[in-house]
Amino acid sequence: MGAVLVDQFGRRAVDLRVSLTDRCNLRCTYCMPEEGLQWLAKPDLLTDEEIIRLVRIAVTDLGVREVRFTGGEPMLRPGLVRIVQECARLEPRPELSLTTNGIGLARNATALKEAGLDRINVSLDTLDPEVFRTLTRRDRHQDVIAGLAAAVEAGLTPVKINSVLMRGVNEHEAPALLEWSLEQGYELRFIEQMPLDAQHGWDRASMVTAEEILASLAERFALTPEPAASRGAAPAERWLVDGGPARVGVIASVTRPFCRDCDRTRLTADGQVRNCLFATGETDLREALRSGGSDLEIAELWRKAMWGKKAGAGIDDPDFLQPARPMSAIGG
Ligand code: 5AD
Ligand code: SF4
Repeated sequence: MGAVLVDQFGRRAVDLRVSLTDRCNLRCTYCMPEEGLQWLAKPDLLTDEEIIRLVRIAVTDLGVREVRFTGGEPMLRPGLVRIVQECARLEPRPELSLTTNGIGLARNATALKEAGLDRINVSLDTLDPEVFRTLTRRDRHQDVIAGLAAAVEAGLTPVKINSVLMRGVNEHEAPALLEWSLEQGYELRFIEQMPLDAQHGWDRASMVTAEEILASLAERFALTPEPAASRGAAPAERWLVDGGPARVGVIASVTRPFCRDCDRTRLTADGQVRNCLFATGETDLREALRSGGSDLEIAELWRKAMWGKKAGAGIDDPDFLQPARPMSAIGG
């Protein structure tokens, strides 16, 4: 041991996000176009064994403590349960979580829990099935609602919900989403829309800001900031609702970036390390794996990739460039 993922600014990456596929069964407008994308070709995807090996290297050689599986939609990956199982056997046992759109979760929640999954984040932007259809271009609202309930039933708690608000679509829903989440016992977090959509349609001026979200919530709830000490590297700033213990989070990725506290490292489904969501470069671990690289060599490549992490994503810089890879191919 001894080797850790640290960068020039002293940040240590202990939280690994692994994208298991770039495919998705929804078409959220803030993510991808109606017709979907050119998906990664099968031979380019890491195999289950390759993923398990890379996670093992990250956990046992590089000090990663938390592993989050993302997509696209990670439940579309046939080997998901086994990947979770194998990761749960690593020492020291990492925390395991999943970010999903919730479709199929009603069917999979128990198997995932039994495999060793600890927690789950479900994306849900609206309580209205019609708005859901407009936003995701699919008529699957009920599946997500059922998936959330199944996650609680299976003990994948606390169940968190991620919501993105879109101007003129669901921007008015913040208070209703919060009220409903509190009733159901879900922990709600709003995420500012980021410039990561494949069709490059993001526009700073039309983005619903954290400030607006908070103002809208404040019309129905009394919000008090949760003491900063409990935030750590978590990107969500949290507020106590009506005195607590209920809480709501806001992830102000654009207007209040938290790059200084970032503790993430990312692995794409085709085996590239990204040191930031917004990085314009990647490090190819798949090639190293497939040409017979040793654990030590792979760990060294990963460390180099993280060392070069930039101080900040710089979304507000005039020369900001959106990364070539969209969110669905990076993992949230
Ligand atoms: N901006 C903000 N959040 C996004 N997500 C997907 N695309 C974007 C975007 N452009 C969210 C999803 C999911 C999480 C992984 O990120 O809704 O909850
Ligand atoms: Fe799928 Fe998530 Fe993109 Fe929506 S945001 S299309 S659920 S990958």
